[in-house]
Amino acid sequence: MIDQIGNTPLTKSETLSDQYQCQIYIKEDFHNPGMSSKDRAALYMIRDAEIKNFLKPGYTIIEASSGNTGIGLALLAKELGYKCHIFMSSKGSSEKVNLLNSIGAEVTICQNSNGPKDPASSQARAKSYHERHPHSFFCNQYFNQANIDAHYYMTGPEIWKQSEGKVSHIIAGVGTGGTISGLGRYFKERKKNVNILGVDPEGSILTDYHLKGVVNTSPGKYLIEGIGRHFIPGALDFSVIDQFIQVSDQETVTAAYNFKEMTGYLSGFSSAAVLAALNKLDQQQHFKTTDFVVLFFADHGSRYISKLYNSDWLKKELGYKYINRSELT
Ligand SMILES: Cc1ncc(COP(=O)(O)O)c(C=O)c1O
Repeated sequence: MIDQIGNTPLTKSETLSDQYQCQIYIKEDFHNPGMSSKDRAALYMIRDAEIKNFLKPGYTIIEASSGNTGIGLALLAKELGYKCHIFMSSKGSSEKVNLLNSIGAEVTICQNSNGPKDPASSQARAKSYHERHPHSFFCNQYFNQANIDAHYYMTGPEIWKQSEGKVSHIIAGVGTGGTISGLGRYFKERKKNVNILGVDPEGSILTDYHLKGVVNTSPGKYLIEGIGRHFIPGALDFSVIDQFIQVSDQETVTAAYNFKEMTGYLSGFSSAAVLAALNKLDQQQHFKTTDFVVLFFADHGSRYISKLYNSDWLKKELGYKYINRSELT
């Protein structure tokens, strides 16, 4: 599995390029073995911990995850002979929980993922479990430099090579911040005028923090999985991000269904948020015909059949009455 992580395709979307009148490419990171970009962070965090002697044979790998990092860690743990225990927020899709169970990880479902200060959160419970179990290693992806390194040393060079350095914009969802921070650092060091754009759900506090430097203490709820936060992750380097684009659940669902209708492609939840952000930027006439835009697709729609692509769930959560193909009302 280790050799199969990374080197995912960067594929031109003819449909989106025609629609938005510039060159649009999708970094299809669901081609990783665990079917998400988070395999990269999982590998780097494990290797870093082994080198630093924090992770030793027979240990249990602990992590708080919305699911994808957990899946990457669980697969790697199996291959490398570790045990794995994932603390997941109850918001995570049943597909992710089922996958974790099938791989053989222990899964604890937690009330929320509100960060280390809330004792009911996945982060606090993972940390507390680690403190009570000395033969364990807590990855702590929200505050782990190796999470950024994965994208600085691996994903960034890949995209640079695949695009022959032509990239003008990267649009990526922001959760722990590892992806955008690693990509942002790598690209800004090579090309000052590249636009690094983060996608954040309405209700998350990251956009406000980037704009005003203040932590909003009354965040809102949102349905989009894997991105947005109610605390400020240490793995998020705001200095390499040019702009955050906030998108609503409704805009994200509409983007997913439009894309599915045009291409037959089931985008993941956060990838649909990237598509919604692309649409918003286009409405602000952000793009020139010479632009080379990379959309970072962290995972795949198959992980959200019970949610994003389930009409009963959409009706219940967003109050739609009618869902048929691209029509959502
Ligand atoms: C589906 C999905 N998209 C985007 C992200 C955000 O990536 P990062 O944590 O590197 O900011 C995650 C993180 O878990 C994710 O699972």
